[in-house]
Amino acid sequence: AFIHSLDRGQIVRSRVESVTLNVAKELTGKTVDNDQHVPPDHMPDMEEIALKYPAKSENTALERYKSDYALSLAKNKQFWQKRAAELITWDHYPYDENKCDDIMMGGFEFGDIAWFPGAKMNVCANAIDRHVQNGKTHQVAMIWEGDEPGQVLKFTYSELLRKVSAIANALKSQGVKKGDVVTIYMPMIPQLPMTMLACMRLGAVHSVVFAGFSSAALSSRISASKSSIVVTADIGVRAAKVIPLKKIVDEAIVMNDCKDIVKRVLVYERERSIASDDDAVPGDVGLSDNKINWVPNRDVNMNDLLPKQRPYCPPESMDAEDPSFILYTSGSTGQPKGLVHTTAGYAVYAAHTIQTTFDLQPNDIFACMADCGWITGHSYVVYGPLLSGSTTFIFESTPLYPDAGRYWDMVQRHKISLFYTAPTAVRSLIRYGDDVPKKYDLSSLRILGSVGEPINPAAWSWYYEAVGNKKCTIVDTYWQTETGGHILTNLPGVTPMKPGSCALPHYGIDCVVLDSVTGEIVEGDDVEGVLAIRGPWPGMARTCLGDHARYLETYFRPYEGYYFTGDAVRRDKDGYYFITGRVDDVLNVSGHRIGTAEVESALVKHPSVAQAAVVGRPHAIKGEAIVAFATVTESNTEDDDELVKELRALVRGEIGPFASPDIICITPSLPMTRSGKIMRRVLRKISTGEADQLGDVSTLADPSVVDTLIDLIGKHD
Ligand code: WT7
Repeated sequence: AFIHSLDRGQIVRSRVESVTLNVAKELTGKTVDNDQHVPPDHMPDMEEIALKYPAKSENTALERYKSDYALSLAKNKQFWQKRAAELITWDHYPYDENKCDDIMMGGFEFGDIAWFPGAKMNVCANAIDRHVQNGKTHQVAMIWEGDEPGQVLKFTYSELLRKVSAIANALKSQGVKKGDVVTIYMPMIPQLPMTMLACMRLGAVHSVVFAGFSSAALSSRISASKSSIVVTADIGVRAAKVIPLKKIVDEAIVMNDCKDIVKRVLVYERERSIASDDDAVPGDVGLSDNKINWVPNRDVNMNDLLPKQRPYCPPESMDAEDPSFILYTSGSTGQPKGLVHTTAGYAVYAAHTIQTTFDLQPNDIFACMADCGWITGHSYVVYGPLLSGSTTFIFESTPLYPDAGRYWDMVQRHKISLFYTAPTAVRSLIRYGDDVPKKYDLSSLRILGSVGEPINPAAWSWYYEAVGNKKCTIVDTYWQTETGGHILTNLPGVTPMKPGSCALPHYGIDCVVLDSVTGEIVEGDDVEGVLAIRGPWPGMARTCLGDHARYLETYFRPYEGYYFTGDAVRRDKDGYYFITGRVDDVLNVSGHRIGTAEVESALVKHPSVAQAAVVGRPHAIKGEAIVAFATVTESNTEDDDELVKELRALVRGEIGPFASPDIICITPSLPMTRSGKIMRRVLRKISTGEADQLGDVSTLADPSVVDTLIDLIGKHD
């Protein structure tokens, strides 16, 4: 019975009842039934399922989730065995339902986790070749929409196979082989996901660096991963603004030890790459009078190299635990860490979560608005949708270009069925009014996803009503770069929604709430604590590149026996999870994860800055805003306004424009304890105008600093 209960369609839509929706005016904490989710025609036979699993209560689907979830934990290895067999076409798979005791080895103590050891597969072949072999030659695999509305390219699975193969052969011709790290610093043109897939095909490890990062940030990532190949484009274009990517790469390579590390820079010319005719000459379309500074013996023009390549390249058969990619993310201390993801475990998890959370069907058009430079882009622009054989949508521009109707215009023109974005994007659109989405035919939409931060009830209602016309399920997906895919979410047709809550744990994920002080499990409902996971899952990152000790320290030492997420959480009386914020010094600004330590170390690079402290405070659109406090050195001669300007420029240069502080206060002193520690709690309270709730400040070395800071912040508001 257990095995039957794991059939995908049955898990997702065990029973969809028709109940009238009733969204309460004040949504916080209330559940909203989502049973208007319309099941597609090719669903499993509902009656058969209903007979097999007779209704136990009012909400059958939720009951089914609960028992399936319990089973997925009780028989965790069987669960993943079955999912892995269903989702992936393996070159070699030595497991079955009777032989899966050793399908997972190792654990949290040493971080020696291995899933599907000895099994073999190739992610790219699973994302492309097998669909071609299964007769999907003419199905569109990828729809690309460029910066200008209507600038569209479509690639069928066959075309994708040829394009990706040619890129793989081009990489090979430049010396790339299995295990090499390839840094990708590219705009959202089709060649970005294609280059990722080409790396996977060769077993090369891609390290995508979001093209909004500065040359300094890029340089430290190239250096840390010893990546001898960098793939870039001459320019990126977003909202008609040109970003000189190749120039930034050139700058990055003269920093650190990159000159000795980087052997080749492969450059796509954006205009030639997106011209539907491969023979297009540069300068044709207008934007590329951007001159590339070609460095001899290092730089190679991809658009010249590609026509020479054979459009088939055999995929490398990889071990399940071979690394597949690195992605850098911020933590509470030090430099960003390069998280290493695996081949099979990651692929199983990306496919499993996208199909379950979004009820993804082969004929769906899945549109995730994230950039490939973030984990959301990896799992839900590239790998999840393509591993599932559906159609993925790649968007180069922004939600506000040329106007606030851009998303909805695209939904209408491309008949997008599943749409996935961040609350910050939703909030940036609300102020343009309901009339904007109303102008478009959004009837193709079935499910709307939210990711990256908690979605506040106002944004939730707008998304639900103005965009979804109260007909779409909103899935609030909680996860992290480290987890590879969704960890907590509601499921369409299964879990009633609660605005602001990422609902319940995903199948196979043993979420627990821990007492932040004692580390004991907090049982029951209506409780608070920190969110942790008991036991490994296939999609989790396996190490920090070059620093396994840091991996153990960050995730497994804070609470022995658990993976620690870094998030605080409340589990309400119905067992629903609400993420209440990071407990470490990590900020979430417009869905971008930024360590306060990174911003601080950028600020103190300025010769006039003695000390810096950075905190977050709530921001209506961005979620969190960055507030920086800095004291100056005795030799400082600059006036404050000038210094603030320079500090902003410094942070942009060290990290990227998205990390530039919203407020910079130059202050004569910072709230320090007598032992010399900065009391961030005090800074946080002052920044949010809650100076009346400072709590115990008796350990402050100089209590008068509080009034000074209140005055300073007041001037900014
Ligand atoms: C952090 C991870 C994983 C996708 C993009 C962000 C916060 C993420 C939610 C959500 C509340 C969320 C957490 C988490 N977060 N999704 N649905 N509700 N908070 O990945 O950059 O690794 O950041 O984003 O704080 O720890 P990331």
